Amino acid sequence: MTSNSNNNNSVIYLHDVSEDEEVDIKDNLKSIIDDAKALGCKEALKKNNHNLEYILSPKRSAYLSLANIQKSDDVLEIGSSMGQHSIIIAQQCNSLATIEVVPQQAEFARVWCDECELTNVEISAGGSSGKLPYASNSFDLVVCNYVLEWCAGRSQMDPESFHRQYIQEMFRVLKPNGRLLLATKNRFSIRYILGSEDEHLGIRFGSALPRVIQNRFRKRANLGHPTGYLHSWNALQKILEDTGFNSVIRYLAYPDNRYADFVGPFDEFSRDTLSESELSRIGIKNRVALHLSKGLFEKTSNSLVFLAIK
Ligand SMILES: C[S@@+](CC[C@H](N)C(=O)[O-])C[C@H]1O[C@@H](n2cnc3c(N)ncnc32)[C@H](O)[C@@H]1O
Repeated sequence: MTSNSNNNNSVIYLHDVSEDEEVDIKDNLKSIIDDAKALGCKEALKKNNHNLEYILSPKRSAYLSLANIQKSDDVLEIGSSMGQHSIIIAQQCNSLATIEVVPQQAEFARVWCDECELTNVEISAGGSSGKLPYASNSFDLVVCNYVLEWCAGRSQMDPESFHRQYIQEMFRVLKPNGRLLLATKNRFSIRYILGSEDEHLGIRFGSALPRVIQNRFRKRANLGHPTGYLHSWNALQKILEDTGFNSVIRYLAYPDNRYADFVGPFDEFSRDTLSESELSRIGIKNRVALHLSKGLFEKTSNSLVFLAIK
């Protein structure tokens, strides 16, 4: 765990903690933390109607099955948010360190882990510099789920360099043979290709457009520094391989890793894997995807999910 590790169940504040959040978001989170201490975490989330499905749905944590977490594993979770997956991971491993850039979210996660009587969790607030405050060769597993696309947003560094640096850091802190479970959004996802607005760029078709055109549209609309940055399957695989990972395996999360009805090898998926009720719920763009050729279906999946071995 961190070199400045403490044992008093408080959040460790790192030098690159972010105070960027809007005051009303901070205040809202502070009152949820107060409620959590008084009522328990789930009740506090319910009382404040705070991202309930996003935090509590089992479909949100289905991707963790790919990590095959062992009782002996020392795990790092990057971008742990309110701790919704930290409490699941910590119950399955030896030790868990988490790092979250929004300090109030890290504070909530601390309360939640304490409520679950998890004594093997160290929670840090920070990460905006893209450096990890852990010794090399410390972890058996690094989990980074739906964080990469946002993580450069608080840095002045160009996003591509930030991502390469952060992934290099993930590699560094892993033990030999350690695993990185990395999931993010696909630049060429079917929804952007069919014209949905890209929430990272604030423009329709967004990340699926060539980068020069994205920049031109954003400049014309006076949209400032982009909050997010996405890759294609091949581009992110290349970064992982350039970093030094020995084995890089791709997985499908359908329709999306956020609320996955299926997570697993591409070969094990077919339309028949899904129930009629799942199919009726997933939206037209995801249903269109089911009729694409195998190659196009794979290239345009909404999520990129990688398991990379050091
Ligand atoms: C979309 S949420 C995903 C949360 C969680 N991993 C999950 O799957 O439910 C992304 C989280 O990453 C955090 N984050 C963004 N950039 C970060 C960084 N550079 N270092 C650490 N956390 C970061 C955000 O504050 C947010 O809580």
